[in-house]
Amino acid sequence: MNGVLVGKTSEIPEGEKKIITANGKSIGVYNIGGEFFAIRNTCPHQGAALCSGITTAFIDSSGPGNFTYQREGEIARCPWHQWEFDIKTGCMIVDPKKRTKSYEVTVERFDVSVEDKGIYVHI
Ligand code: FES
Repeated sequence: MNGVLVGKTSEIPEGEKKIITANGKSIGVYNIGGEFFAIRNTCPHQGAALCSGITTAFIDSSGPGNFTYQREGEIARCPWHQWEFDIKTGCMIVDPKKRTKSYEVTVERFDVSVEDKGIYVHI
């Protein structure tokens, strides 16, 4: 356990996020389907607080008027110019070479008197 404690697992319900500051870095921690993921809260485009934007789905289209929503809750959309990033990898959707940093997250017991487990981000 060498990570930074984000909080208890119950503090970030499924589909929600928490933005923390650790070691001088702002980081968004997301609960996607019961798994936790963390990305840097800085957009590689012009530096906006990426994680303060909406969390959405990947929208695919086979042609005009035809679209489907996939991977609901796995995409972070930057509030400034709407670039979208895969929360699980930090990669931009349309150009995966552009990315924000992603961090390893672990869920561990942190206090013997507390049933809830802690979420740790490894910076
Ligand atoms: S600063 Fe994020 S898309 Fe421009």
